[in-house]
Order: sequence, then structure tokens, then C-alpha cells
Amino acid sequence: MSQTCRIELDGKSHEFPLVEGTERERAIDISTLRDRTGYITLDDGYGNTGSCTSSITYIDGDKGILRYRGIPIEQLAEHGTFVETAWLVIWGRLPTADELQRFRTRLTTNEMLHESLRSHFEGFPPNAHPMAILSAMINAMSCYEPEMMEIEDERTLERAAARIISKVRTIAAASYKMSIGQPLMYPRPDFSYCKNFLHMMFSVPYNDYDPDPEINRALSLFLILHADHEQNCSTSTVRMVASSGANMFASCAAGVCALWGPLHGGANVAVVEMLEFIRQSGMSVADYVKRVKAKDSKLRLMGFGHRVYRNFDPRSKILKAAADKMLAKLNIQDPLLEIAGELEDVALNDPYFIERKLYPNVDFYSGIIMRAMGIPLNMFTVMFAMGRMPGWIANWKEIHDNPKARLQRPRQIYTGENIHDYVPLSQR
Ligand code: CMC
Repeated sequence: MSQTCRIELDGKSHEFPLVEGTERERAIDISTLRDRTGYITLDDGYGNTGSCTSSITYIDGDKGILRYRGIPIEQLAEHGTFVETAWLVIWGRLPTADELQRFRTRLTTNEMLHESLRSHFEGFPPNAHPMAILSAMINAMSCYEPEMMEIEDERTLERAAARIISKVRTIAAASYKMSIGQPLMYPRPDFSYCKNFLHMMFSVPYNDYDPDPEINRALSLFLILHADHEQNCSTSTVRMVASSGANMFASCAAGVCALWGPLHGGANVAVVEMLEFIRQSGMSVADYVKRVKAKDSKLRLMGFGHRVYRNFDPRSKILKAAADKMLAKLNIQDPLLEIAGELEDVALNDPYFIERKLYPNVDFYSGIIMRAMGIPLNMFTVMFAMGRMPGWIANWKEIHDNPKARLQRPRQIYTGENIHDYVPLSQR
């Protein structure tokens, strides 16, 4: 492969280096383009722009491949736990038994919220969206952890990561409890990460909730599958905020806000709303798909399509199999699963979706699993955020550890008014 790329501009030829990743993805390094030519590149939505090099997650969207730190997602889904996946994503290799134990202990010792932080919940109206609460509370957490604002060594970083990953779970469950008017449940140090979350969500002071191991495992799987996904909208937001030197809490809080939207993490809510709409309206799946395809339709088939995958999202395959298995084991009949299966069949055989390479993404089946776990709809995107926390932290760490990291600051092409004079109010 040639090591440079030649670009002709205004009759002059300029050479730019080519960059190749470990999986042979190639890029043109245009970091000197503007200085040398006066031009910038314009790439609406960044579909062709690499904002960084990263060694965390690899995706081949054409082949439907996803790997964390080189390990296929299918293997982690089958053999891993969320806590060891989190460690892998953040520190780049699977933890030893001692490292895993130390991290687990840190998660346990950090599971409580500062009592004053707990009282923040009372400031939110009862119907406040849990994503708003989550973002606000992660930011508020930094006020109680001043020593974590400047991270100077690995140990402090591990402590900060454990605090966020552990407390996010407590905050998520507490925001749910507040929204339904139930007392907040204290975490249980004898429970695993996932079981503890389910306990804080569903136990009440007079009745302990003891989740079926199937539900525990499904939650772990869900979190593993969401742990990272390279430079998606929320992770890029985290990196952007981190690039200003902002602390880990502020950066992750920003990630939660970016995740909220229906084109990104909020799609898991939108999918279930869509399936419910089809069920309740009695409309056939074929008719719904017709509406999506209609010219000038603003409707999208939620849970379908992806900026990077032009093939099955491997996470959706794993989640579909897990949903089938879990519902059968727990003897749950969910009519939405049937509608989802029909929708998938219709779409995968329809030229509109085939030509555009639109396949089910992670959000298509994740809602079915969460419903079976008893997670309420307005908590779905919070669950995604809990899972994504290790990825955000790992990406924050990549920026933090990189002595050459620069402030991220894209350019623009201005298309507004040309210069004209200020008109005094009396003359307008
Ligand atoms: N339903 C119907 N048409 C679609 C869909 C869809 N879900 N997704 C894309 N298209 C069409 C789109 O209308 C366009 O058609 P045309 O060429 O005729 O204008 C073409 O496919 C390309 O779409 P695009 O908007 O340029 O694609 P994108 O890469 O910008 O969008 C996406 C990616 C995920 C935002 C989009 O596929 C979408 O809106 N999907 C539904 C929302 C969703 O499920 N989001 C979750 C994404 S996965 C989890 C995550 O990362 O958060």
C-alpha cells in the first residue's frame, strides 16, 4: 500500500500520509490540510471522519463484527460477566483473579450514595425523567468526590471508575423508586453487581426481591452487550467534553444526555412504543412497514439501521436468542416479541430495507428482554447508560492518558449573512 495520498487543489499537488489500523482500516491523515491548503473537509454527520485512533473496540460493520479489546462479543456474551467486561474495556485486558476481586470489592464499598446526595432526589418532581436525574446526579456526584477531580495515577483512576460504575446503579434504581413513590432501598454488599441492582429496583422494606437466576444472567448479558461501541454519538460526546480537560463525572454526565435521544440510546424505548402501537392499533405489520416507506414519511422503523453496520448488528442476534430462551424458561408470552419477529421478517425481505442495508440493531430486541425483567419503559435508556459506563470511562481514559491529546474543536463552513450594519431599534 502506498504510504501517502496525493490531493490536487488549485493546481497544486499535496501529499498526505495514510494511516492503517491493526485491522487494516485505512485513513488519510489530513491534520495539516488547512495549514497547507486553506481548505477544510466537510462531512455532515461525520460518516467519513475518524475523530481519533482508539484501541478499545473494533467494529467491522460490513461483516457484523464487534470486539472489545480484540475479544469477540459472542465470547464475552457466553462466558463473561459485566464486571470483568468493564475491567477489560477500561484496562485493555481481562483481569486476573486478584484484579477482579479488588475491583469487585471497590464496587461494593462504593455502592452507597452520600446521604446528602440521596436528598437531591427529593428536589426532582415525581414524574421527572430518570435520564435527567441520572445525568444531574452523576454531575452532582463530583461535588462529593473532590479528590477525584484530578486523576493522577492508575489507583485513583480505578477508584473513580469503580465509584461511577457502582453509584450509577444505585442512582438508577433510586430514580425509579422515587418515580413510583416507594422508599429508596439500600444496596446489599453480599449481592453481585446485577443482583444488587435488581434488589434496589424491586425489593421493598417488607419484602426482599429474589431474582430468578435467568433474569440475573439476562441483565449481565444486556450490560455486556452495551459496554462499548466505539465512536457513537454519546461516546464522541464524552471524548469531546474530556478533551477540554473536564473531569470523568462531567464527561460521563454529558454522555448520558447524548444517549437520551431516540436515534441513539432512546431507540430502545421507541422500539417498544412502536411495537405497542402496532399491537394496540390492530394495524398489520405489512401496513406499518408501508407507512414507514411512504414518500415523505417521517416514520422510521425503530431498532433498524445503523451508521456503521450494513449487516446484522451482532448484538441484536445475541439478544434475540437470549429473549427467546428467557421468555421460554420463565414461561412469559410477550405479544410484542411476536410482532417484532414479524416486523423483522417483513423488513428483511423488503427491497427498501435490503437496498439500504437496514438490519435490526441492538435496540430491536433489548426492550423485550427488559420487559421480561420487569424494567419499566422509562428506565430502558438508563439501563443502556449503566451498561455503557465502562466504554465512556475507557474513552475518557484514552484522552486523559494521551499526552498529545488536543482540544476537540471542529471547524465549519459559514453560510449566514455577509457583513451588514447594526440598525438601531427605532429604525427597525
Ligand atoms: N427506517 C426506515 N428507513 C431508514 C431507517 C429506519 N430505521 N434508517 C435509515 N433509513 C433510511 C433513510 O431514510 C435513508 O433513506 P434515503 O436514502 O431514501 O433517504 C437511508 O436509510 C439512510 O439513512 P440515514 O439516516 O442516512 O442513515 P444514518 O446512518 O444517518 O442513520 C440511524 C443511522 C441509526 C440514525 C438510522 O438508521 C435510524 O434512524 N434508525 C432508527 C433509530 C434507531 O434504531 N437507532 C438506534 C441505533 S443503534 C444503537 C445506538 O447506537 O444507539
